[in-house]
This record gives sequence, structure tokens and C-alpha cells, in this order.
Amino acid sequence: MAIPENFLNELVDRNDIVEVVSSYVRLSKKSGSNLFGLCPFHSEKTPSFSVSPDKQIYHCFGCGKGGGVINFIMEIEGLSFPEAVEFLARRVNMTVPEEASDRDSRKRERMLALNREAARFFYAQLSSPGGEAAKRYMAERRIGAATAKNFGVGFAPDAWSSLRDAMKARGFTDMELFEAGLVRKGKNGGFYDTFRKRLMFPVIDVRGNVIGFSGRILGDGEPKYMNSPETLVFNKSRNLFALNLAKKSKSGYIILSEGNIDVVSLHQAGFDSAVASLGTSLTPEQARLLSRYTNEVIIAYDNDTAGIKAAQRAIGILEKLDMKVKVLRLEGAKDPDEYIKKRGADAFRNLLEGSEDQIDYRLRAVTEKYELSSDEQKVAFLKEASELVAHLPGAVERQVYAMRVAELAGVKADAVSDEVERRRKRLLGKARQEQTRRQTQPERQMQPEQRELHFEDPASAAAEKGIVRLLYLEPELSRGGGLPAPEDFSSSALAHIYSVLLEKARRGEALSAATLGEALSGGEMSLLVQLLQEPERLSQGERALNDYIERIRERREQKTDTDDLRKLAEKLKEKKGYKG
Ligand code: CTP
Ligand code: MN
Repeated sequence: MAIPENFLNELVDRNDIVEVVSSYVRLSKKSGSNLFGLCPFHSEKTPSFSVSPDKQIYHCFGCGKGGGVINFIMEIEGLSFPEAVEFLARRVNMTVPEEASDRDSRKRERMLALNREAARFFYAQLSSPGGEAAKRYMAERRIGAATAKNFGVGFAPDAWSSLRDAMKARGFTDMELFEAGLVRKGKNGGFYDTFRKRLMFPVIDVRGNVIGFSGRILGDGEPKYMNSPETLVFNKSRNLFALNLAKKSKSGYIILSEGNIDVVSLHQAGFDSAVASLGTSLTPEQARLLSRYTNEVIIAYDNDTAGIKAAQRAIGILEKLDMKVKVLRLEGAKDPDEYIKKRGADAFRNLLEGSEDQIDYRLRAVTEKYELSSDEQKVAFLKEASELVAHLPGAVERQVYAMRVAELAGVKADAVSDEVERRRKRLLGKARQEQTRRQTQPERQMQPEQRELHFEDPASAAAEKGIVRLLYLEPELSRGGGLPAPEDFSSSALAHIYSVLLEKARRGEALSAATLGEALSGGEMSLLVQLLQEPERLSQGERALNDYIERIRERREQKTDTDDLRKLAEKLKEKKGYKG
């Protein structure tokens, strides 16, 4: 059953790893000939996932995953080796030699074909005489015919063997139906339809395959939903309901809701970027899937305790992927569907436009958790709220929210501010420890090649490099105020490069590598060239600059703090009379 070696060689040749990986990961040049991006296999904010076009391999310095193009597809698509080969072959219009084509992948194909037929069958049942009840229910839920068509909503008849009979007539076997989760095995060994008398929502993946079904009871009753089990083609935690439609939306964000009905209702009202997480709370895999299509998610979960909890979990997961997250507050309605029905699409649009950043949302959630008239609870509230505010990167932002918290608790603003800053320092300390811990391999790459230029504080140096890069690319920045002084830099090499650039820019001279050769040492020159390889957010130059400056300031403050503490400790010792 082995796939011929020469076929595999040609397959790998034709599937350039950079091209293949690029459709999953945004890659950019970092250093040398390697490309870097955010690892799709673990959560991270700074790229440690590298691809080598020369060697045709990938490797993640963070999680250690690595291999060739076939491994990559196996890992990211969750496929077996032969399936991944099949996948890549199709990509470049090659045909896997027949005898080698794996049983699994043929099975997969059959299952997808069966699911597609089943979806057609369910859809057709809507307009059959037996579909009256479903039509009535749809009318009640105000799901229009066009929407039903768009989603392929159908009806599973109130019978034990209608789908089974129809599919068998089309050449599918009981075993195939069973493995697809469409029939179940009865006590007497016979098979019967899994879905009966239910409104059927096909679950369609981003490639347009019907991978499973979600069936809602018509009206009240238990269980409200029945879903396809996990099968060869259906994995709930890796898919999102309606992403096949939402990925085409022009809105720029994705609305994440809980229910299928909510999604259908949202699309019908014109919000064509709504998806739902198939009855589970958002998984990291689903979040990564989302991040391929958007960098902004607006959470519209149900307006109940479970919804709030799920939203907070989702925020955490999405933030890890550096996504912008907002949360809708559906006042006066239990879910988006009800909200739209009660208040209309315009009201929902207003909600979208004014949706809160996650900090407001979280702060409110924390506030609602405590009974603030009790002193004991108030203390707990202050702790939790301060911790939340401490996570905010901007000092002004922290100040503003500290005041809000103080107001809510009825205490002095200064007290909260102090608490917040104390926690902030602890956080930074932790982050630094974490950084040092992770500084082994990937960090060495961040270090300049020249040993004499070694960075003492890589985190600060990274920001300093950013400033140098920005200035080089946008010399106009030298004319505005707000640039740091070279003395603020932790790395003397970067400080020197920076001051040379700054001087030239201010004199209006061109900043080209050719003209800098004189002022910079060979090492510094290499360092400059190296740091220019890294990507820069030029479209948001000002913002990037401010972020860098803030980071440098933070590092300095942290250092000063430790110095201050040391001094303070010494003073105390002196006071108590024991020296040294
Ligand atoms: N769900 C499930 N099994 C259940 C209940 C719910 O799999 N027994 C999943 C479904 O995917 C459902 C989602 O969880 O869409 C959210 O549940 P719910 O809010 O109860 O369903 P809705 O589709 O929103 O239906 P409705 O608005 O009619 O209550
Ligand atoms: Mn719901």
C-alpha cells in the first residue's frame, strides 16, 4: 500500500512549503533566508514558527513541532499521511497512483458524498406534504425561504427509516450510514434514522463539504438538539457553524454567537459574518480557524450566566491570538435572535457599532459577581478588579479604569491606583521571568550576531530596534516631538545607531545604508541591516512608536524599582541597627 517514492518526491517538489504554509500562516521575512510567522500549533504572540524555503522544512522554536510539507498538512488539517498526500496531490492536480490511494481517504470521500445527498434529501422534505410541521415552525421562528436555502436548512421526517431508505436507494450501505452517524443500531440489530422530526442544519466546512448535521426539535422538548457524532469527517472542536458563509463577508469582523438559530437569524437580518461554535464553548482550534479570516471578533453570546462565563473564556482564548475582541450586551433579550426580533436589525447594528471593548465587559462581569454593600465582598471585588485593570498596557487607561473601580466600590481613587500599579509591577516581574525562561533558543536569534553587541535586556532591545527601524523607514518622525533620547536605550550599540540616524534625519540627510557605513562600525551596520529585515507596522507608525516607547519606559521603571527597593531595604537595615 506504500505510495511510490518517486511520486512522493514529485509531490513534495511541486508543493512548495512556503506557498502551502502561507495559506494558513502569515509569513514574513525575519532573518537570513527563513520566513517567520505565528505558530498555528500553539498560542503565541511573537512569531517563533519558521519556514525554510531552502530546506523545505518548518520548525517552531516555541512548541518544537517541525517537519516537511506533508507533516504540516497532516498536523494542520488533522489528516493521516495518505490523506495528506491526497490533499496535496489535489492541490497541484496530481493523481495518487490508484492502488496506493488509501482506504481512509476513499471512505472520507464517500462519507462526504453521503452527507451531501442527505442534506439534499432533508432540504427536499421541507416542501413535501410531511414537511408542513417544519414549515410552520420555521414561520414561527421567522426563518424565510431564502434563508433556508442559503443555509440548506431542511427537515428530517417523522419516520424511522426515511433517510435510510432514500440513501440506500442511492447506493449507500447501512454501514456507511452508520459510520456517518446518520443511522443508529437498534436492539434487534437493525438500523434506524438518527434524526427524526427535526429541523436540520447542515454543518458545512470552509471548503464547502457537508461534514455533519445539527437537528433542532420543532418547538419545546428534550433533547433540544441532536448533533452528528464525531466521524471521519466531523470534528466539532475544529469547525464553526456558518463559517463557510461568514468567511465571504465584507464586514471585517466575525460575530460569534452560541446558537444555530441565532446565526440564521443574524444572517437573515443582514449580519452575514455570524458563526456559532456548535454547542461547545469556543475551543483554541476554532479560535485559530477564525483568525485565518479575521482579526476582530464580536461576541454575541446568550444573555445569561452561562453566556457571560463562556464569553469570558472566549475572550481569553482569542486574546492569546492577538485578536481584537468586543462583547455585545443584549439588554432585554435572551439571545441575538430574540434581540433582533424585538428591536430590529438597526438596533442590533447600533449595538455592534457601540460594542464594548472587553475591559468594560469584564469589569461589569466582575462587578456583578460581588455584593458591594458587604465589606468582605468589596475587598474581594477590589482585588479582582485591580488585577483586571493591572493588565491594561496603557498607563492612562489604567488610571481611568482605576477611578471607575474606585467609584464602583466607593473608595478613594488613589487607593485603587496604588493597588493596580502594585499588581502591575508584579505582573511585569512575572512576565520578565517568563521571558528569561523562554530566552534560550528563540532569544539567541534575537541577539545580534556580533557577541560584543550582546543585549543585556532583550525585551527593551526589541523595542529599541523597533524605534530604530521606524526612524529609518520614516525619517519624518524625527521632526515631531515625543522621541526618546538615546540615553533611554538599554543597548549602547542601538543607542549609537539611533543617535547617528536621528542626527542625519534632523539635518534632512538621506538615510541609506551606503551613507551610514562611515558613522557605524561593521557590527553596528550588520545589526542595522538585520533589524531592518523584521516587519514593521508602518501603517500605524505613530502607534507602533508609542508602544515601543512605553515598553522601554516600563523596562526602565522596573529596573529603577528594584534599585529603589534595594536602597529601601538597606535604609531599613540601617535603622534597625544591623548593618551589612
Ligand atoms: N446545543 C446542543 N445540544 C443541546 C442544546 C444546544 O448541541 N441539547 C447547541 C446547538 O448547537 C445550539 C447551541 O448549542 O445551537 C445553543 O443552544 P441554544 O441557545 O439552546 O439553541 P438555539 O439554536 O439558540 O435555539 P433557540 O434560540 O431556539 O433556543
Ligand atoms: Mn439560543
